Amino acid sequence: MRTPLIVGNWKMNLNTREATNLVKSIFAGVRGLGGIEVVVCPSYTALSAVSSALEKTNIGLGAQNMYTEPEGAFTGEISPLMLKDLGCRFVILGHSERRAVFGEKDALINKKVLTALKYSIVPIVCVGETLEEHERRETEQVIQRQFEGTFKDLTATDWKRTVIAYEPVWAIGTGRTAMPSQAEEAHAFIRELLASRVNEVADEVRILYGGSIKPDNFGKIMAQPNVDGGLVGGASLKAESFIEIVKSSLPKNETSGIKS
Ligand code: PGA
Repeated sequence: MRTPLIVGNWKMNLNTREATNLVKSIFAGVRGLGGIEVVVCPSYTALSAVSSALEKTNIGLGAQNMYTEPEGAFTGEISPLMLKDLGCRFVILGHSERRAVFGEKDALINKKVLTALKYSIVPIVCVGETLEEHERRETEQVIQRQFEGTFKDLTATDWKRTVIAYEPVWAIGTGRTAMPSQAEEAHAFIRELLASRVNEVADEVRILYGGSIKPDNFGKIMAQPNVDGGLVGGASLKAESFIEIVKSSLPKNETSGIKS
């Protein structure tokens, strides 16, 4: 039904040589695996080199951010057309680090989501509560607010090309992963929000979990009915752990592997 999707978010790490080596090692480990989609998101400076290394592989390429305009006087920004030119089919938007460190608000993220869709780039849109919000038991409230803000004006067709990532901020880079039941609760809530907005696509949209995913903790999270994949930070920087995470996410009936 929903093809599992595992996305590596390399954040601000790796030079072009390191990035190319990593993606070659990842491909060696996942080639031949079927029934799963694998995407890597290098920093902007490594996109071109990684794009070349990924030619004729079944690994997709994504960026970690993007601006809302196709071109113009926006010093330091990167446009959807530039990403497409390098072969990017995905873009992470609204990551909690963009929200917390760079002050991105739901309204801007919403514009970016609509822009990505306009240029046929799949947006992977992050939502999730901070530790304080978690402790105040405001998870659902926060998710709902971010959902309403970042997904304004999406059509049913747009939704079919959109990926949501639930990333509790308290789990990102902390080694503290959500319990499978916590993840499932949040994911099921997101799917309810989806159903109340666009019932006909609610079952199609993939909802990824993110936050301290490791090879030994992801299987149980991935086994939850509303978890359709993972957004992996730290553990995506080592081929071995990333490959293991991909393998632990294969649909149960898939024994063999990726068509290259
Ligand atoms: P982490 O990062 O796996 O290192 O916690 C996840 C993310 O920020 O996307």
